[in-house]
Amino acid sequence: MLVASNRGPVSYQVGEDGSLHARRGGGGLVSGLSAIGSDADSVWVCAALGDGDRAAVRRAAGGLLPAEETGGQRVRMLDIDATVHAEAYNGIANSVLWFVHHMLYQTPLEPVFDAGFRRQWASYEAYNRAFAEALAEEAAEGAAVLIQDYHLALAPRMLRQLRPDLRIGHFSHTPWAPPDYFRLLPDDIAAELLSGILGADRAAFLTRRWADAFTDCCHAVLGPGIPAGTRIGVHGLGADADFLRQRAHQPDVDERMAALRAEIGAGRKTIVRVDRTELSKNIVRGLLAYEQLLEDHPEWREKVVHVAFAYPSRQDLSVYREYTAEVRRIADEINERYGTAGWTPVVLHVKDDFARSLAAYRLADVALVNPIRDGMNLVAKEVPVVSDEGCALVLSREAGAYEELGEDAFVVNPYDIAGTARALHEALALPADARAERSKRLAAAATALPPARWFLDQLAALDPRPS
Ligand code: G6P
Repeated sequence: MLVASNRGPVSYQVGEDGSLHARRGGGGLVSGLSAIGSDADSVWVCAALGDGDRAAVRRAAGGLLPAEETGGQRVRMLDIDATVHAEAYNGIANSVLWFVHHMLYQTPLEPVFDAGFRRQWASYEAYNRAFAEALAEEAAEGAAVLIQDYHLALAPRMLRQLRPDLRIGHFSHTPWAPPDYFRLLPDDIAAELLSGILGADRAAFLTRRWADAFTDCCHAVLGPGIPAGTRIGVHGLGADADFLRQRAHQPDVDERMAALRAEIGAGRKTIVRVDRTELSKNIVRGLLAYEQLLEDHPEWREKVVHVAFAYPSRQDLSVYREYTAEVRRIADEINERYGTAGWTPVVLHVKDDFARSLAAYRLADVALVNPIRDGMNLVAKEVPVVSDEGCALVLSREAGAYEELGEDAFVVNPYDIAGTARALHEALALPADARAERSKRLAAAATALPPARWFLDQLAALDPRPS
């Protein structure tokens, strides 16, 4: 069995003395796929993402990384030409496909489909071909191959052409755009993306809504009817309760809780958010809603702190760097405007620290998850599982998690700042026993589909095609 994704389970940093340090990757995709385990017959194919990774590949025999650095998994990292990778990953995947599926284009962030885009598209094809060729090389006769996400939309068809014997699945971790939005892509590109995924035996999504949008796009762009060879599936991904509860009670998390408590101040309520600093996460509107809350409900001043962790993401792209700066600027403005000698209204941290995220989860009275669009959003699922006293959840109706958690959350339209401020007020005002009850129900729904099940169900659904 093989898995393919742009980001692998491990990444390498070069130390000052030139030595290489391996680090486990995070994120929903990696934690879900970790269920692949250390089975000797399975291989995870991923791309080298930086200088450290490239050095590790050159050191590794045949690109297979040393098992002691990968947690026992067989990982083959591809050293794709740096320019090709940058154009495919930054140019096409993150600047175009991510923006289409999350519907993020708005003036002045407009799509540009010029000659430069076409050059980047050629790199996207080359990058997908490198994956297809490596998979074709690694796969045993009749093997199952699970190809992940928008980075690799063309690889299923390419692999099918090279190896018709394989069982191929594609999984999208993002939302899928509705046809009217998807069709802002040039027609030939839209058709290639859809046909690429339809090269798989099975195309799967995190929710029914994204699966239906994909089917609608196929009808609109390619004509009626999904080809007989391809099935469409839905697999929700839940939080890993056992891992989270165990990890959240390690000494490093306790230490960070003490430090956070000191920053927050005694007896105050906390509104917690943890995200990559990402336009789709809607962090700025979240801050503006919090500001509106302080304005409309002065009774909360000095009594609540917004703990916002916004970890750097895709910093090669200027739009992400600018967004990061805007998040900082608005947090500072709120602190200047409302802060007092003993109270900092927004505690913003930008340095990625998983133990500190868990500490914040444990302290959360309210979790704020307000993305513009999100494939699933695991933070919405993780906080109720980990919070010590139970938390209320303010949740965007545009997150995939809404389908499973909507009933017990305070649901918001992510663009509606005043509405989000109202939801924050209601969530903060919820009596402790009602909050604990809701939190319990949220945690039960959030853990119904643990990552191992998500993975094994997909594999089982890819059972051998009739010969
Ligand atoms: C989303 C995508 C993943 C991606 C992750 C982090 O969850 O669906 O494929 O790995 O974001 O983004 P990055 O660009 O850092 O890999």
